[in-house]
Amino acid sequence: MKYLSLILISLGWSQISFAAPPSGEQVYRQYCAGCHGAQLQGGLGANLVDDTWLHGDSEGAIIKTIKNGVLDKGMPAFSAGLAPEQIKLVAQFIKSQNDTPSSGKLAEQNKSVTSEHYQFDLKLLTVFDSLTWAITFINDQEYLATERDTGNLYYANINGTYRTIKGTPQVWNNDQGGMLDIALDVNFAENQTIYLAYAKENVNDNWQQPKGMTAILKARIEGDKLVDKQEIFSVDDAFALPSGRHFGSRIVVDDKYLYFSIGERGVRPDAQDLTKPNGKIHRIHLDGSIPSDNPFDRANAYKSIWTYGNRNPQGLARHPSTGEIWSTEHGPKGGDEINLISKGLNYGWPVITYGLNYDGTSMTDKTHMPGMEQPIRYYVPSIATGGIDFYHGEKWSKWQNNMLVTGMGAQELRRVKIVNKQVVEEELLVKDFGRVRDVAVSPSGDIYIMITRDHKGHMYKLEQRN
Ligand code: HEC
Repeated sequence: MKYLSLILISLGWSQISFAAPPSGEQVYRQYCAGCHGAQLQGGLGANLVDDTWLHGDSEGAIIKTIKNGVLDKGMPAFSAGLAPEQIKLVAQFIKSQNDTPSSGKLAEQNKSVTSEHYQFDLKLLTVFDSLTWAITFINDQEYLATERDTGNLYYANINGTYRTIKGTPQVWNNDQGGMLDIALDVNFAENQTIYLAYAKENVNDNWQQPKGMTAILKARIEGDKLVDKQEIFSVDDAFALPSGRHFGSRIVVDDKYLYFSIGERGVRPDAQDLTKPNGKIHRIHLDGSIPSDNPFDRANAYKSIWTYGNRNPQGLARHPSTGEIWSTEHGPKGGDEINLISKGLNYGWPVITYGLNYDGTSMTDKTHMPGMEQPIRYYVPSIATGGIDFYHGEKWSKWQNNMLVTGMGAQELRRVKIVNKQVVEEELLVKDFGRVRDVAVSPSGDIYIMITRDHKGHMYKLEQRN
């Protein structure tokens, strides 16, 4: 006993309560930060330090919100997952964070990183006015960027200038829907052709509520506008859904095929239903026609399906040397995955998953089933994976063919080295600097990331220090 109290004294007062229940801050980090952000700055969940309170700012009102949730807005109820004492502590923690001055809450604009192989700076190039979803490089200097809620498409330069391309399709700006991914045709330099993935509303006067689905548009950029527009994928009204969630929609193009993802749109069982387009990765020809060797050429099947059982793949990229298609799947809490995507396979959602419900209870006890693929890597806790790219180039040669993985909720950029379908090395490069939504390697072998902070897109270049 004497010995124990000596240890406690030497650790200092702040440690004396170590046998007590976790602090409000610990509860926050474990259950809330994934949606409300490490600095309480918001993300999937509301900003909790901006003096704007939809449900009241008293301790009692906050406790009530945490207990009951705001279920139709995506705030889970914690009355079953947390003890009343924990709820009280986390509410007090939120209150205390609002009493500290707001300066210092925001991350600084540039950041220095020391990684295993390189020292580099994150250099801010441009701040876009709204949430930027995807970036893709045209040449060493120029890139295209999409803005989700406004539906804007930008033709941008790394010198910080950009202009808006007119004639973009009307997007369905519903929660996670809007203008999403952008990809270039392999012959873009000659034909200026691009492919856009976006949330499209199926307009139908008989419906009480709007419904929609992910769609793919092919078009050419001519000067400042889109021309020769051709919708190469969209769904009939029967498949449109009212949910504003899980549009997936990353695109990979080669000289013959276009692969793209659609999340399950919040309807979990649909991911296993081969008659439905959601919860799948699709493969079509560049004119939208269905390749004759697609895997599900049977009556009633949705013919463009390439793989199924995919929850919400928000990362899709082709390996530079093997040509394989890889995806990151935005899972439930604790169920993000990296998958190698191969023809006709079932990736298991929602039957098998490592995921948890948002209140921390287990979703299913099944992580394996015959006929269902295991992820190459899964993340517990979740990092909320976004876009991916493989490094290919001279400048960061020690990272050759490594996958760069973004994390939105966890505010991360990771480098993942995969050999023979196994992760052999993984390094956290950037942490707590905003939601990293997309990453792109330019033709010159430079690396760029798009970070969301304060609902604005921040474009950064990774710049090596000598
Ligand atoms: C799955 C994402 C998610 C998680 C996890 C989550 N929240 Fe929320 N939370 C939300 C969303 C979305 C809202 C906005 C609700 C609305 O628009 O009415 C919200 C709203 C709130 C509000 C009300 C803010 C206001 O303006 O009145 C509080 C307080 C809150 N959350 C606390 C918490 C706490 C504490 C935890 C952890 C125990 C937590 N949340 C976990 C998504 C989440």
